[in-house]
Amino acid sequence: MIWTIFLLFQAVLLYFILTHRSRSKSDPPLDKGVIPWLGHALEFGKDAAKFLTRMKQKHGDIFTVRVAGRYVTVLLDPHSFDTVINDSDSLDFSRYAQVLMERIFNLQLPHQQPAKEKAMMREQFHGMNLSALNSTISRNLQAMLNAKMPQNQKDWKEEGLFDFSYSLLFKAGYLTLFGGEQNNNSTDPSHVYDEYKKFDGLLTKLARGMLTPEEKRTAKSVRQRLWELLAPAGRTEGSGSSPWLQFYRGMLQEAGADEEMQRRAVLMQLWATQGNVGPAAFWLLGFLLTNPESLTAVRMEMETSDKHVDTPVFDSALEETLRLTAAPFITREVVQEKTLHMADGQEYVLRKGDRVCLFPFSSPQMDPEIHHEPQKYKYDRFLNANGSVKRDFYKAGRQLKYYTMPWGAGANGCVGKQFAINTIRQFVYMVLTNYDLELCDPLAPMPEVNASRYGFGMLQPEQDLLFRYKPRKNNLD
Ligand code: HEM
Ligand SMILES: *[C@@H]1O[C@H](CO)[C@@H](O)[C@H](O)[C@H]1NC(C)=O
Ligand SMILES: *[C@@H]1O[C@H](CO)[C@@H](O)[C@H](O)[C@H]1NC(C)=O
Ligand SMILES: *[C@@H]1O[C@H](CO)[C@@H](O)[C@H](O)[C@H]1NC(C)=O
Ligand SMILES: *[C@@H]1O[C@H](CO)[C@@H](O)[C@H](O)[C@H]1NC(C)=O
Ligand SMILES: *[C@@H]1O[C@H](CO)[C@@H](O)[C@H](O)[C@H]1NC(C)=O
Ligand SMILES: *[C@@H]1O[C@H](CO)[C@@H](O)[C@H](O)[C@H]1NC(C)=O
Ligand SMILES: *[C@@H]1O[C@H](CO)[C@@H](O)[C@H](O)[C@H]1NC(C)=O
Repeated sequence: MIWTIFLLFQAVLLYFILTHRSRSKSDPPLDKGVIPWLGHALEFGKDAAKFLTRMKQKHGDIFTVRVAGRYVTVLLDPHSFDTVINDSDSLDFSRYAQVLMERIFNLQLPHQQPAKEKAMMREQFHGMNLSALNSTISRNLQAMLNAKMPQNQKDWKEEGLFDFSYSLLFKAGYLTLFGGEQNNNSTDPSHVYDEYKKFDGLLTKLARGMLTPEEKRTAKSVRQRLWELLAPAGRTEGSGSSPWLQFYRGMLQEAGADEEMQRRAVLMQLWATQGNVGPAAFWLLGFLLTNPESLTAVRMEMETSDKHVDTPVFDSALEETLRLTAAPFITREVVQEKTLHMADGQEYVLRKGDRVCLFPFSSPQMDPEIHHEPQKYKYDRFLNANGSVKRDFYKAGRQLKYYTMPWGAGANGCVGKQFAINTIRQFVYMVLTNYDLELCDPLAPMPEVNASRYGFGMLQPEQDLLFRYKPRKNNLD
């Protein structure tokens, strides 16, 4: 008995020695939370936006919190973002990315060449290659929509807007980039979508390592099925997948990744390329339907603009949508001690082994000092009175470089941005020009967001928003 107590005492003592950390003058304010080791992990996971807002009120624009044994310095001053985004020597992107890859996709890639991969990605999603993707997805979207709602249909069809947008865009995007064909059980887009949705629901818990044993079993079997479904994607020219995926496979092959690891990497790319577009299109259509004056403005531009190349009203409506619903963390690992020079002249030391995290959703995107009435959807927030694009926003009297940041920034920003915008624009254009649509309950508000998804890209709603649609009369297309 006495030995048990003695050993226990030693263990507790050792624990405190190992995890003890006190604040020095050059450190950002430190908030360890009351629970040993876990620190603020539970509150963080439940609703990161609420938690970080509370910390910001308590400590200001920079502070360090303990989350599941790690110290994370959160920086919420957009004037100071560049010092983090620019310094890829002290602040490393790929280490934390690798941790997530392992946890979510069970993926360990052999020695990678991030610069080469990034260059390939950029090339594939730009210029002529982008135009080719653009017309392929346009064809796929049109075919999907027609199959769902033939033009000779006369009755209203009722559906959830989230499910409608996510499933259509996912399937069209999958066909465009990953190949596959309908009516083949092993590559059918509907089949892949159904499995993917199950995986998507477990994704945040996988990333945080907070699955129950039963969820863990489900996650494993769903992931296994997706690997099998994606096995043919990008393997041969005949598979109908994009040149991008074939290049990607080729690079993995060259780096020595076996077939099994390649499939896992392809699932990761499915998530990176299809996980955000559908939810973004949902929020945009939802805001348009619940704000009739925005819908009128966007419709008017679509009917008058020349081949919808220059669409400032649509662009602003989308930018405003993303301001309210894109909430990624931008995380870096501190690989060598770094002095952070804040825009207000303060200096802080970032310790090696800690993480730094930007959360642009809190600031700039929902910051009342930058955006007046930030909770409100204003489709013309990013337009000047004369109709040109508005780019001047201010904080503390100085003009901001980052006034909204849905795509990340710098070397690790989204490579698919232009393709995503084109896709959403085409989708919204097709839906608005081919169909009449209305909310089932004309007074329905936008649904609440699912708070557990803060930090993982586009947010998703707690419940769906019911709407009905039917082919438009006098439809000239
Ligand atoms: C509304 C839609 C989208 C949003 C809001 C979005 C947002 C983002 C963000 C914030 C990142 C950076 C993550 C970080 O810094 O850690 C990112 C990375 C990436 N995005 Fe997107 N994205 C969207 C659609 C797409 C599409 C359609 C594609 C491709 C077709 C794509 C391909 C990628 C890739 C490959 C990366 C990883 C870049 C890297 O490894 O550094 N995204 N995206
Ligand atoms: C960061 O890099 C950008 C572009 O390379 C540059 O315009 C900016 O001045 C840099 N900012 C800082 C703080 O180093
Ligand atoms: C398009 O991709 C091909 C490889 O498939 C590449 O050789 C070419 O340079 C790219 N073209 C453009 C305009 O980016
Ligand atoms: C994408 O496609 C749409 C319709 O097919 C077209 O209007 C638009 O100009 C295209 N954009 C690019 C960058 O090719
Ligand atoms: C279905 O797709 C798989 C994988 O690409 C292929 O091997 C198989 O022949 C296809 N089956 C049919 C009936 O087309
Ligand atoms: C496809 O799968 C469904 C159910 O998973 C099954 O009922 C059907 O027979 C399968 N069709 C083919 C051609 O294998
Ligand atoms: C909210 O998101 C989490 C994580 O993706 C998911 O497990 C949960 O089912 C979602 N809640 C609702 C009401 O959809
Ligand atoms: C439109 O207004 C903005 C500011 O309100 C101004 O900077 C810009 O020059 C104007 N553009 C035109 C074409 O008048």
